[in-house]
Amino acid sequence: MDVAAWLRGLGLQQYEQAFRDNAIDAEVLPELTDADLEKLGMLLGHRKRFRKAVVGLAPSSSHPDASTDDIAAQSRTRELSAERRQLTVMFVDLVGSTALATRLDPEDLREIIGAYHRCVADTVAHFGGFVAKHMGDGVLVYFGYPQARENAAEQAVRVGLALVDAVRRLPEPEPLRVRIGIGTGQVVVGDLITAGEGHERGVVGETPNLAARLQALAEPDAVVIGPQTRQLVGDLFEYRDLGAVEVKGFPEPIHPYQVVRESAVESRFEALHGTTPTPLVGREEEVDLLQRHWHRAKSGEGRVVLLSGEPGIGKSRLTVTLQERIQNEPHTRLRYFCSPHHQDSALHPTIAQLERAAGLERDDPPERKLDKLAALLAPASPEDGALLAELLSLPTEGHFPPLQLTPQRKKEKTFDALLRQLEDLARQGPVLMLFEDVHWIDPSSRELLDLVVERVPLLPVLLLLTFRPEFQPPWTGQAHVTVLVLNRLDRREGAALVQRVVGTGELPSDVVAEIIERTDGVPLFVEELTKAVLEGGNTRTVLSRAAATALNVPATLHASLMARLDRLGSTVKEVAQVGAVLGREFSYELLAAVAQRNAADLNGALDQLVGAGLVFCRGTRPLATYLFKHALVQDAAYGTLLRAKRQELHKRVADVLEEKWTEITEAQPELLAHHLQEAGDWAGALDHWQKAGRAAVARAATREAVSHFASAIDCSRRLGDVSGGAERMTRLHLAMANALMQAEGYRSERLGKTLEDARLAAANNALVELQCDVALSLAPFFYATGRNHDYLTLAEEQLANCADLLPTAYLSGLWATKGIAHFNRGEQP
Ligand SMILES: Nc1ncnc2c1ncn2[C@@H]1O[C@H](COP(=O)(O)OP(=O)(O)O)[C@@H](O)[C@H]1O
Ligand SMILES: [Mg+2]
Repeated sequence: MDVAAWLRGLGLQQYEQAFRDNAIDAEVLPELTDADLEKLGMLLGHRKRFRKAVVGLAPSSSHPDASTDDIAAQSRTRELSAERRQLTVMFVDLVGSTALATRLDPEDLREIIGAYHRCVADTVAHFGGFVAKHMGDGVLVYFGYPQARENAAEQAVRVGLALVDAVRRLPEPEPLRVRIGIGTGQVVVGDLITAGEGHERGVVGETPNLAARLQALAEPDAVVIGPQTRQLVGDLFEYRDLGAVEVKGFPEPIHPYQVVRESAVESRFEALHGTTPTPLVGREEEVDLLQRHWHRAKSGEGRVVLLSGEPGIGKSRLTVTLQERIQNEPHTRLRYFCSPHHQDSALHPTIAQLERAAGLERDDPPERKLDKLAALLAPASPEDGALLAELLSLPTEGHFPPLQLTPQRKKEKTFDALLRQLEDLARQGPVLMLFEDVHWIDPSSRELLDLVVERVPLLPVLLLLTFRPEFQPPWTGQAHVTVLVLNRLDRREGAALVQRVVGTGELPSDVVAEIIERTDGVPLFVEELTKAVLEGGNTRTVLSRAAATALNVPATLHASLMARLDRLGSTVKEVAQVGAVLGREFSYELLAAVAQRNAADLNGALDQLVGAGLVFCRGTRPLATYLFKHALVQDAAYGTLLRAKRQELHKRVADVLEEKWTEITEAQPELLAHHLQEAGDWAGALDHWQKAGRAAVARAATREAVSHFASAIDCSRRLGDVSGGAERMTRLHLAMANALMQAEGYRSERLGKTLEDARLAAANNALVELQCDVALSLAPFFYATGRNHDYLTLAEEQLANCADLLPTAYLSGLWATKGIAHFNRGEQP
């Protein structure tokens, strides 16, 4: 096929050159994603036209609009014989199409039906289903076909919900609505196709029939699922129970559910529930203790529990268990998560919690975000509203009176506002406040926690903090604070955990013994190694690989993860690696932009990672976010990257962030800086560290600022003394010194060291003003450490060397600071 001619036929001739330059031939045409087209410079309207037309080309196997003919063809090429398997089938039907037909001109009707079919095809393709057949305006879709998927049922429900929405939003003169039925069951695929029995028989069994019947039960805009589907999707969604119903063609009544919406989950931990974690082993005493503290807290005597333990030992798991135990008691739950990527992002856990709880979406306009925030907050004064909106980087102009405050004052007031929110919540009922992975806490949150811990004893609040043993909590020793250390599982418990992972199957006892030996009772390792053994078939290889030490990740975990990723194939592995570069948690949109894969491959890979339990998913694509099961799993995936590849990926992330995620790079310049630095782009990183430092100072997050400026200095050093290097170094050290004075006080040793470095850098530097700046900055440090005489020497040196060159303000500064040094020495010159 001649691509150029085809484009001309569509009136898209202006893109001929771009297509040619990018070597796009007929074969890859159908695989071009919307993002690809955008990259080729194609306008939105043209992209739509292109995609419609491409549907008409010879379908490929991944093609959404393929008919059952294609199923037959695929099946033949795969030489499938009759095969029994589980399949989830969805039946979609347009509401009131007969009425439409009588009212509309046939030609208009055809167009409307066409648009609706395309909408179905697009939505289905997006989530990885398979459009099997059109029956009038009904559409039959298979999930878990041709490739079986563990989460096919979940996909189907997500498609169902998305479809209701998408169809309703079609820009037709009359709003369109659909009914959707979804059923899961055993079917026989393949045999009748080759027997040529007609297309609709591609799948045999009662499941397609069930889907059609469920569809008939559904109200307009509703998704109704059968009992098996319901069981598979667990609590990922909220349902309305439709009770037992007699259905034609089925001997027993069936029990359908209407899917109302996705579960109101505010945090990623619900994902754990969705994927049914291994049932809890042991830990009875710990759970008991937590429950006792909860009861005391509820009665108004607030408690703080510090839960400490090595990674993978089960801290998070224990917090989930407590949440489950008290889920039927009225209470408010607040969850905060620290992460290694945000150790220097001031108040990141609080910001993320507010965004999550308020349900802010990335593409919400600012107005909408403000409304959502207002709805979340307990009645707040305009000032509190303004402070919290500013905390979330929302524009406050025109909504709140401007805040005329110094950074320090603003920070104090923000803390006050947050504490008031907590107190208001606590007045309404008990609060479970969970702060996870405090070993990664940012300094500002740490300050805030100090205040919260102080406040807790007077409130019905249980504050539960988790952290690794290397963190030294400053809150111990107070009457209302308890420390709980989680130890490793003993052999018996280890064996029980292996057995729970294995389920009904069995592993030879020597293998179980070996797993326990190698994993030494750390539950995460037990789980992972057992899964690797189960999936691997060849037990010996996995275990011998596990013996080899590698990188910083504990050998057993790294090895088992390697084996599992290898088995999932190179695409899956690469997607996991890209995810690991983005962080423990990453959004689908960002991943898609960085991974540069077509949607089908990407979605398939993600589904496999989720299916393998390595990654959890929350929400629906494209708005979904993914979370590595554990920080160590992310580390291990990251550790499989070779340096060059790692740098390349960080570079890609940085590019994508800079191009499309300006709201993130504005609010968190340090994130961009991090990726640029890891990509080896020292100049770019330097720029953004500096920006991050200045932003942190403006929020009085001075410790964070110190860390950002220190990173900037590091980058500057790597850049060497290229043009302006010395001057830049001096300025960076001065900026860091200013932050240090605020963060650590004037006697800080680190301040002295930083100023000394500033002086050395300035010495290689022609600008006398800058040298004088350094001298002036040194004054308070010298006073505070009793080195007045040293300061006098320094100031006199400055005055002697460059008095003629310095502007008056600098001279006044030198004389004034010199005067103070004399005064401090009791001299009256
Ligand atoms: N007592 C337990 N019984 C069953 N599974 C457990 C237990 N403790 C931990 N796990 C599992 O081990 C893994 C790691 O636990 P996690 O709570 O994430 O560790 P941590 O938060 O201490 O790093 C999780 O998959 C968790 O479900
Ligand atoms: Mg944890």
